[in-house]
Amino acid sequence: MLPVSFVSLGLLAFTTVARAVTVSVSATASHPIPTTLWGQMYESGDGGLYGELLQNRAFQQVTPGTSGALNAWQAVNGATISVIKETVPVSPALPNALHVVIPSGRTGQVGFANTGYFGIKVTAGSTYTASFFYRFPTASSFRGNAVISLQTTGGQVLASTTAALSGAQTTWQQVTVTLNPTTTPSSTSNRFVIALDGAAASGQTVNFAMLSLFPPTFKNRPNGMRADIAQALVEMGPSFFRFPGGNNLEGGTVAQRWQWNATVGPLVNRPGRQGDWGYVNTDGLGILEYLQWCEDANMQPIMAVWAGFALGGTSVAEAALGPYIQQAIDQINFVIGDPTKSAPAALRASLGHPAPFALTYVEVGNEDFFAATSYVYRWKDFVNALKAQFPNLHFIATTNINNPVLTPKPTEYDVHVYQTPTWFAQNSFFYDSIARDGTKYFEGEYAAISTNSSDIFGSPATGRLTFPTMQSSTGEAAFMTGLERNSDIVFAAAYAPLLNHVSASQWTPNLVSFDAGAVYRSTSFYVQKLFSLNRGDQYIPSTLPSSTGTLFWSVVRATATQEIIIKVSNTVGTSAPLTFVLPFNTVASSGTVQVIQGSATTSNTPTNPNAAVPVTNSVSTGKTFTYNAPGFSVSVIRLVAH
Ligand SMILES: *[C@@H]1O[C@H](CO)[C@@H](O)[C@H](O)[C@H]1NC(C)=O
Ligand SMILES: *[C@@H]1O[C@H](CO)[C@@H](O)[C@H](O)[C@H]1NC(C)=O
Repeated sequence: MLPVSFVSLGLLAFTTVARAVTVSVSATASHPIPTTLWGQMYESGDGGLYGELLQNRAFQQVTPGTSGALNAWQAVNGATISVIKETVPVSPALPNALHVVIPSGRTGQVGFANTGYFGIKVTAGSTYTASFFYRFPTASSFRGNAVISLQTTGGQVLASTTAALSGAQTTWQQVTVTLNPTTTPSSTSNRFVIALDGAAASGQTVNFAMLSLFPPTFKNRPNGMRADIAQALVEMGPSFFRFPGGNNLEGGTVAQRWQWNATVGPLVNRPGRQGDWGYVNTDGLGILEYLQWCEDANMQPIMAVWAGFALGGTSVAEAALGPYIQQAIDQINFVIGDPTKSAPAALRASLGHPAPFALTYVEVGNEDFFAATSYVYRWKDFVNALKAQFPNLHFIATTNINNPVLTPKPTEYDVHVYQTPTWFAQNSFFYDSIARDGTKYFEGEYAAISTNSSDIFGSPATGRLTFPTMQSSTGEAAFMTGLERNSDIVFAAAYAPLLNHVSASQWTPNLVSFDAGAVYRSTSFYVQKLFSLNRGDQYIPSTLPSSTGTLFWSVVRATATQEIIIKVSNTVGTSAPLTFVLPFNTVASSGTVQVIQGSATTSNTPTNPNAAVPVTNSVSTGKTFTYNAPGFSVSVIRLVAH
């Protein structure tokens, strides 16, 4: 075997290029790649994945009379607005309403506006659906039009329509209209306005509740997903979607936990809840919307059930677990139950989905290593009850592996890690040393979030990243080659967190960032996409990388196309040659390489969203070939070889 040609030997002699690492590839596969391997972890979607454009649309979980209750709302042209506790609420779930008084002596359009989630994107040619409930708390002789519009902050009307309001309407009436902008403003600083003619409505008082504004959604689902964000997520080719959390499952208190039954049915029936990331969740993106999204995006759900622990530190006593276990059983029946046998399943059928959804994995809690002592009984009682009802489901434990020892023995664990890029590279062998005892692993949250090993969760000043960088993304890719190698026991893996509104960040870095107008795919997003779209179906062993080195690889086969797929992560700034030796009879003389590269600090940001994106080139291949991995790069080489 000649590892390199005489020509390249000559080049090597005159340059500082390192000696090529030789990677000998095995002739036979060691194990199939699980079809679930790459997917997404998700929690809480208001102002992001969920398509609703109005923030604080239903005054859920706010304190009436406070300025905080008016978050994202503002008066227009002298109206007096406040959030009140309604004497006749629009629904038991929504006790509050917007109380609007048109003072006497005003002229022109007087009303109120919503500024959206830090702006509203308005696009000419798109149809926006707006709706609201109104009632006059005191009957009046008023008859007139409400003008419903989209406007720039400067007052330019982008789309407008009217709806007749009647002062005789003292019970709640829903109004639905469409708005068709004919111009696309240059900015997203726009607002949604409802106004009355000041002179005609002088002195009138009107209450409004459950207001909504939707753009066209992904696959045009009513109450669906924001199309550009959904498109970015689908583009990664995820095979699963973990929901509803994450911390956001747990609630600060037991009462604030995520409850499936508070997230179904008409939007007016959803009370919303104080989420775990500092803001109120509308629960407009409820359990049915999550499941529908999984179907639309061709992903399987990895669904969590609340397991008796709230983030504030409360573990429910074992004797008191019964109702929570029943609620978990009901939640699962909503997803997969038989409508003729289960009320939650009958509810699903009544909401338009009589067939059960596909469900294999149920996660019991979240990060219960924070409450490991009580998890011993919580796991036992939840899983014994759930297994009895649903013998075909797999239940995922969320404590550290075998610490504490759980009964029944978990068949799956969810493992989380936030660390430095170097840690990820050096721990790409983590699963190589885990016992093959039948237990499978879900690397349910991982990300390189800091370059400072003394301060993983610190500030940008001490190394915490705002956006993924090529250094963090190559560290993750190194780790992912280890996940692929160990995919006989690692059945699923997801970067976390998934989404970040750049005007309201709570945790950085994230896989995908966005604002009201656009979506920004990070370098780590492209790494996830490269692995996911090139996952193959068989793992092929090869010479192992050095666990203390900086260059990592994995080799898989795509049986259907008779291809070998080689992934390489170079986690440092110096390029590095690798010589691959392939033992197959037929090996193409050329293939393709998709490569993303940059400097250590290259990030895709709102101001430079395409600083590093994958580029596809052809590459010379053969039974022996050398590939030079650029500094801070992830490469995917595909060639026909069999
Ligand atoms: C959801 O169900 C639980 C019982 O499992 C009940 O206590 C709660 O009130 C319900 N919530 C809503 C909003 O229906
Ligand atoms: C790393 O974090 C530690 C602990 O916060 C801090 O003292 C140190 O200055 C940081 N190093 C750098 C290079 O920022």
